[in-house]
Amino acid sequence: MEYSFPHYLLSKQSVDDRALNKDVLHALKAHLPSQPIHIVEVGAGIGTMLRRLVRWDVIRQAEYVMVDEMAENVEYAAEWVKVWAAEAGMRVERGGEMQARVFDESHDVHIRFERADVFDFIQKHEQPADLLIAHAFLDLLPMPGSLPKLLSLTNGLAWLTVNFDGVTTFEPTIDAALDEQIERLYHESMDTRPTGGDSQSGRHLFKHLQNAGAQVLEAGASDWVVFPRGGNYPEDEKYFLHFILHFFEGSLMGHPELELDRFKAWLAERRAQIERGELIYIAHQMDFLVRT
Ligand SMILES: C[S@@+](CC[C@H](N)C(=O)[O-])C[C@H]1O[C@@H](n2cnc3c(N)ncnc32)[C@H](O)[C@@H]1O
Repeated sequence: MEYSFPHYLLSKQSVDDRALNKDVLHALKAHLPSQPIHIVEVGAGIGTMLRRLVRWDVIRQAEYVMVDEMAENVEYAAEWVKVWAAEAGMRVERGGEMQARVFDESHDVHIRFERADVFDFIQKHEQPADLLIAHAFLDLLPMPGSLPKLLSLTNGLAWLTVNFDGVTTFEPTIDAALDEQIERLYHESMDTRPTGGDSQSGRHLFKHLQNAGAQVLEAGASDWVVFPRGGNYPEDEKYFLHFILHFFEGSLMGHPELELDRFKAWLAERRAQIERGELIYIAHQMDFLVRT
């Protein structure tokens, strides 16, 4: 199998669509200032959140800045916008390589693609936005130090979604003790990444946000729940599951506490469960809407 990060982000869309906490989303809609609004999304990947917000009719008129450090993602985002906009019956105008306008009778969104480390972007950032979005991103950063810097990007709202919160479950059980050990070591690997990260970032955000002077307007779970329907996974979720196991392999292969042969056999059996349409995967996560 070929592992491509942009493909993983594409395959994650339907999983995130289900997972996003709809109470938090309703609160976002209720608190959004009148449009046009200025939005900054950090760790934006290939731009799936912008596509979703247009598709779900949350934004109609906006300046939308997407920041991501990975050139492959930003290049993909700048090309892919033409595809999803066309599928949605919208028109696209390019304003150079790193800008686009997506519009129809009821939408007009001006997009800027920024390839940058988020902290470099913050250093040189211009006007604070009306809304900051960080989706599947905060649990990768050093906390709590990153939070005040990120929140300086908005003078109003922040929608902070899909923050991992300490629970991973694979079903059916292969070997209860081994399953538990692998899940525990995977969480530990998130906590010890040199670039930062917290395997319980969801629950910890309550106190970090309070300390950063932000008010939580709404919060709730946004768990990924991936399961087969009649033996088949919807959309591209089979690829998503294979990529999740690829993360496990990359993080834990060679771990001194894991017997190599047993871990390889575990991975092989989990992959076979995907192919047979048996694997169920649950990751507990949390969403927040905050006012700064
Ligand atoms: C898990 S992905 C989520 C992407 C996107 N939000 C989504 O859910 O489709 C995390 C993203 O953060 C980006 N990223 C990680 N560290 C970053 C940093 N310091 N500055 C900017 N982007 C970063 C990665 O390149 C990646 O695209």
